[in-house]
Amino acid sequence: GRPPLVDSFGRVIRKIRVSVTERCNFRCAYCMPVAPTWFERDAVLRFEEIARVVRIVASMGVRTVKLTGGEPLMRRDVEGLISMIAGQPGVNSISMTTNGFFLEEKASALRNAGLGAVTISLPSVDREKFRSITGVDALDKVVRGIDAALSAGFSPVKLNATVVKGLNEDEVPRLAEFARDRGIFIRFIEFMPFDGKGSWRPDKVLSWREMYESLRGKFDLEPLPREAGSTSMNFAFKGARGGVGFIASITAPFCDDCERIRLTADGRIVPCMFSPKEFDLRSALRGGASDLKLEGMIRAAVSSKDRGVKYMMQAGDLPNKIRPMYVLGG
Ligand code: 5AD
Ligand code: SF4
Repeated sequence: GRPPLVDSFGRVIRKIRVSVTERCNFRCAYCMPVAPTWFERDAVLRFEEIARVVRIVASMGVRTVKLTGGEPLMRRDVEGLISMIAGQPGVNSISMTTNGFFLEEKASALRNAGLGAVTISLPSVDREKFRSITGVDALDKVVRGIDAALSAGFSPVKLNATVVKGLNEDEVPRLAEFARDRGIFIRFIEFMPFDGKGSWRPDKVLSWREMYESLRGKFDLEPLPREAGSTSMNFAFKGARGGVGFIASITAPFCDDCERIRLTADGRIVPCMFSPKEFDLRSALRGGASDLKLEGMIRAAVSSKDRGVKYMMQAGDLPNKIRPMYVLGG
């Protein structure tokens, strides 16, 4: 292989988060504006282009590929992309973050193509609340999708719930119960308080501590050792399988051992989601660049990776605009 991807703070890049489309059939309040604008069709990378980028980063030590969106299952034949990536040397884990809507139909085809793990977003287990958060009356369908993922043998199947003050903060215990019933982990994500228009709304953040407090007493939680590079602090349910995790993106960001970069659907490398820096790989991909040239661009992107939102907050200089999540891929 090639020398590893190391940034200027000594962090080694082991994961890439690939957005395969910015489109989504949901309109989650914390992610999408009411009327999103989509990329031009040919601005979006073709599967061959994505697979090439993955092959190149894998030759530099990236081991984990996370497919995301928008909603990745909106992209026709995403199984085809998975099988292109699954055989590549160095890639030892492929996972997908999905809203679960299409999993009922797609779970086994995805598993057969080589997808290893899935994370399903579940912001509520109340039908009406689910509808008001996501814009779609699809709780039952998503639950069937979760169960289809479990039957298809993904390991692990995880849930993600973004928690927003005043929106679904009272759902935290019920969501944890839902996860315990199925013996899986649910991770509660602190709202990254920029709305679809990019404005900063820190008053809507419910801290991981507050979430944890709302579970104490109702659940017997056992802290698990922190895994390097993991974005969450995890607790197991005592006497049951599964557990809860907290992704404290705002009150305890995991910047110091961040090991990821992102590839947007339109072919830009985003080294840090809170920084405006991005590197246009698409033009190079389509301009006949060699693997070595692309490798150099990716190394330059990694070298420029900012230290992270943790330090931006400490210095009080947060970006006043940030790309929306449906572009960043969560
Ligand atoms: N803050 C935190 N998490 C978010 N997600 C989308 N928007 C936000 C936000 N503003 C989450 C989704 C999904 C994951 C990909 O990103 O809930 O689980
Ligand atoms: Fe779609 Fe996920 Fe964004 Fe919701 S959070 S609108 S499901 S991409």
